[in-house]
Amino acid sequence: MGANFITGTGTDIGKTWLCCALLRHWREQRRHPEALKPVLSGFDPAAPGASDAGALLEALGQAADERALEAIAPWRYAAPLSPDLASAREGRQVPFDALVGYTRRAAERAEGPLLVEGVGGVMVPLDENHTVRDWIAASGLPCVLVAGSYLGSMSHTLSALESLRHGGVPVTAIAVNESEGSSVALGQTLASLTNHVGGIPLLGIRRDDPGPGIARLAGLLA
Ligand SMILES: Nc1ncnc2c1ncn2[C@@H]1O[C@H](COP(=O)(O)OP(=O)(O)OP(=O)(O)O)[C@@H](O)[C@H]1O
Ligand SMILES: [Mg+2]
Repeated sequence: MGANFITGTGTDIGKTWLCCALLRHWREQRRHPEALKPVLSGFDPAAPGASDAGALLEALGQAADERALEAIAPWRYAAPLSPDLASAREGRQVPFDALVGYTRRAAERAEGPLLVEGVGGVMVPLDENHTVRDWIAASGLPCVLVAGSYLGSMSHTLSALESLRHGGVPVTAIAVNESEGSSVALGQTLASLTNHVGGIPLLGIRRDDPGPGIARLAGLLA
């Protein structure tokens, strides 16, 4: 069954939102999707439901209790910083090999579509030696690159794509999640990007009508 890593051009681009929309879509189709947010920074144990893991669990119809959090987000850090910095504050590094092993095992075991949400963008440092891209590559998963339609997004998107290519990571699709209040129309962003992505499927997710984009993406992933 399809397992995909969900990465993005940067933080706040809509990775969690998109994962939740896909999970709900599959559940409506009576599929049994799964989702992981293995590394979580900015985590407040007093408000687990407000975290990315909490949002994913809600979309899966599960409570954000300790057991569920431990299962889908085993590496949680309090500081709202990149994982290398957040983990250093607590004196416990992100254990790269264990993280990769955990991701690979989850992908092997998954019976329904599996989404693994990364952290921030493609090149966010996990520790002194590894970035999110290294995690995706070592896990052997294809990825979805989530991008925006804001002015400047094209360079961010193509730069992220170039670094995924350089790391040997296959890209299943690029999801252009329409940016709020953008001066650039979603259709224009898609038309320009399509000339530069070498045939990778490009999907636009409209703010006022996300359903068709979500359905197309869901079809590509599972
Ligand atoms: N298409 C959309 N329609 C409505 N709201 C959206 C959409 N995409 C993103 N958002 C909102 O934008 C905010 C940032 O999105 P989200 O949390 O999914 O980003 P992220 O890429 O997962 O960030 P992080 O790097 O922190 O994990 C959230 O409040 C989310 O609900
Ligand atoms: Mg997120």
